[in-house]
Amino acid sequence: MKFIWRLWSLNKHNHWLFKLAVAILLVGLAFRLFFYQSTRFEPNFDDSFVDKTEVPKPPPISVNIPKPPASVDISNPPASVDIPNPPASVGVPEPEDEEAPNNELYTGECDLFIGDWIPSPSGPIYTNASCPLIEGHQNCIRNGRPDSGYLFWRWNPRDCELPQFDPQRFLELMRNKTWALIGDSISRNHVQSLLCMLSPVEQAVEVYHDEEYKSKRWHFPYYNFTMSNVWSPFLVEAAIFEDNDGVSTAEVQLQLDKLDKNWTNLYGNLDYAIISTGKWFLKAAIYHENDTVVGCHICPGKNFTEKGFVFAYEKALHYVMDFIATSKHKGLIFFRTSTPDHFENGEWHNGGTCPKTTPAKEGEMEMKDLNRILRETELAEFEKASAKAAENGVNLKLLDFTNLLVSRPDGHPGPYRQFHPFAEDKNATVQNDCLHWCLPGPIDYWNDVIMEMVVNS
Ligand SMILES: *[C@@H]1O[C@H](CO)[C@@H](O)[C@H](O)[C@H]1NC(C)=O
Ligand SMILES: *[C@@H]1O[C@H](CO)[C@@H](O)[C@H](O)[C@H]1NC(C)=O
Ligand SMILES: *[C@@H]1O[C@H](CO)[C@@H](O)[C@H](O)[C@H]1NC(C)=O
Ligand SMILES: *[C@@H]1O[C@H](CO)[C@@H](O)[C@H](O)[C@H]1NC(C)=O
Ligand SMILES: *[C@@H]1O[C@H](CO)[C@@H](O)[C@H](O)[C@H]1NC(C)=O
Ligand SMILES: *[C@@H]1O[C@H](CO)[C@@H](O)[C@H](O)[C@H]1NC(C)=O
Ligand SMILES: *[C@@H]1O[C@H](CO)[C@@H](O)[C@H](O)[C@H]1NC(C)=O
Repeated sequence: MKFIWRLWSLNKHNHWLFKLAVAILLVGLAFRLFFYQSTRFEPNFDDSFVDKTEVPKPPPISVNIPKPPASVDISNPPASVDIPNPPASVGVPEPEDEEAPNNELYTGECDLFIGDWIPSPSGPIYTNASCPLIEGHQNCIRNGRPDSGYLFWRWNPRDCELPQFDPQRFLELMRNKTWALIGDSISRNHVQSLLCMLSPVEQAVEVYHDEEYKSKRWHFPYYNFTMSNVWSPFLVEAAIFEDNDGVSTAEVQLQLDKLDKNWTNLYGNLDYAIISTGKWFLKAAIYHENDTVVGCHICPGKNFTEKGFVFAYEKALHYVMDFIATSKHKGLIFFRTSTPDHFENGEWHNGGTCPKTTPAKEGEMEMKDLNRILRETELAEFEKASAKAAENGVNLKLLDFTNLLVSRPDGHPGPYRQFHPFAEDKNATVQNDCLHWCLPGPIDYWNDVIMEMVVNS
């Protein structure tokens, strides 16, 4: 029914067209109601990226996609319990919907970030075999992760219908457009997810990388679509003294009031950007503002004032948000909140693990304090900036995937960040990753949400 209201608001000055559209929609809904029961939980193989034009043919997508385990198995999505009610769109009007047409304030929008994970027998649209861009540490299937149940859930917003990500439609919308995902390794994780989801329609061609292979750019030749991933873990200028395994030899020198030019130089030419930061602010650092040391975090013996990371996070986010809100940017800018981790019985550096193999039930998973503090700071700074952005005509939107991710402790590589970690020794002690996300995996569903927001923007 939401679609009708959406159409209503679009066409309220054009009643004739509106009536026609409603008639078509009602016929469609009746048709859908009629068939809904019989097709409800069948695998959906008629995916929407069936070729409609003469674009390069996708690789055969059905072959390498792991099937849900056939036998009854704890990793299998539960068959009947826990399946939430069908989405509202099947035609049962909800009370608040009936009011909608009379309500001038109704915008046709609903909260895409509140919902549930529901069984999805069709699973992911790509695999380690069909997408060559998955980073080794997140390539869980190739690395020998034995369970596959975590692949068969999809995000289902509670009050709106979320169409599946449609790579063909996405690429068509993005003809001649430029995107950048800016931030830390979670942004890299995300860019790989997005490129993989587009790969059945067109494979991205890498056209640039920096010396350390941290920032990259890809081009989709047929669609002339450019996607950049900009490594900027603090978004502000930072001198970092650590190796690729996260072992550091000195505190980070952080310039809280100087934005990292690696992204700001690019910013003006982007049609879309997703900007985020987070966990790096927890590290030991010396804080500078106006070229003067103003304090530090975890710096014993340094004769600087311990300020705590929230001090730095608020300041850095303030400068970032202010830049965005006053930029006069004409594109669509997303600010993404940082993502929760699921380390149990320890953290990254001291043996934490994440052994769960199914999504958490509602209320079963609590957000850790650090994740909560980061997010609260982000939301507060975003809130302050969004009024200013609106005044300046900047299209700034929030991506807050916290709800979606908190309930997915099963989505991380865990020990399978390494290739077959237990091949030689079943009891081997290995580094677990409960911070990044397996690909394919839960963050693929970010793209469903983002596409919906792009389509409706
Ligand atoms: C994908 O993973 C499967 C299962 O581990 C493995 O047999 C296959 O070789 C992998 N393919 C690629 C291209 O990595
Ligand atoms: C893309 O750019 C080309 C060349 O500038 C132009 O001919 C074409 O119309 C553009 N397509 C879209 C969808 O903007
Ligand atoms: C590709 O897109 C860019 C804008 O992103 C545009 O300047 C250029 O003309 C396009 N090229 C073609 C061949 O369409
Ligand atoms: C950031 O910019 C500096 C200076 O332009 C450059 O040397 C560096 O390689 C860039 N870093 C990344 C990750 O692109
Ligand atoms: C920044 O530092 C300069 C010189 O050290 C000083 O003149 C200026 O007032 C400072 N600005 C702010 C905003 O503190
Ligand atoms: C520490 O800083 C204070 C104030 O800046 C200064 O007075 C003091 O001499 C410093 N102590 C050392 C050991 O450097
Ligand atoms: C692994 O640990 C189990 C119990 O902790 C032990 O019985 C077994 O011998 C160990 N296996 C190896 C290969 O060390």
